Amino acid sequence: MSFTIAIDGPAAAGKGTLARALAAHYGYAYLDTGLLYRAVGARMLAGDEPAAAARSLDPADLDPTILRTQTVAEAASQVAVLPAVRVALVAFQQDFARAGQGAVLDGRDIGTVICPQAEVKLFVTASAEVRADRRMRELLDAGQPADPAVILAEVIARDRRDADRSTAPLVTASDATLIDTTDLTPAQALSRAIAVVEARRPA
Ligand code: DC
Repeated sequence: MSFTIAIDGPAAAGKGTLARALAAHYGYAYLDTGLLYRAVGARMLAGDEPAAAARSLDPADLDPTILRTQTVAEAASQVAVLPAVRVALVAFQQDFARAGQGAVLDGRDIGTVICPQAEVKLFVTASAEVRADRRMRELLDAGQPADPAVILAEVIARDRRDADRSTAPLVTASDATLIDTTDLTPAQALSRAIAVVEARRPA
């Protein structure tokens, strides 16, 4: 039986950092589901029809280094509102969650739509200002130009689109544990998450 840890939350809340650390701690596989939407967004920018791109997505297309730009993030958020795109990506995510002894998936609808039976559900958030600041550091570290006011406006616009869409909007699963990372270090967020996982793991 595979043990699933579902992590949802808005952009740049620290989901990826936490998910990677949890996966390393437990020796579980990790899937950043945002990369799937980013890969489809990148294919749309290249002229492909989004749903067809989602149906023919190749795991080899999931190269984080070319998909972590603001332009691709914006395109990802646009294709993520399309029901046909979301449906086309369900099986890949569910298969990933089932394979192996345990998996950590992060995204927007993992605990609500993709893995509603997940043993652990975390909803990771932080203030919009702190998230914009983290996103800016990531972009600067990657050598990309970043304007703080523009990044904050984009974070807020993307949050709104992700929360307001009619298919699989970003909502907190009723059985998810909230972790607000605004004032937490990555290590503090990890130890909170481990405490939640330990309470649910079979002895
Ligand atoms: O987490 P991220 O910034 O890489 O996500 C990019 C976009 O993809 C984001 O605007 C929302 C969308 N997304 C989604 O709708 N569902 C997911 N499970 C993951 C991402």
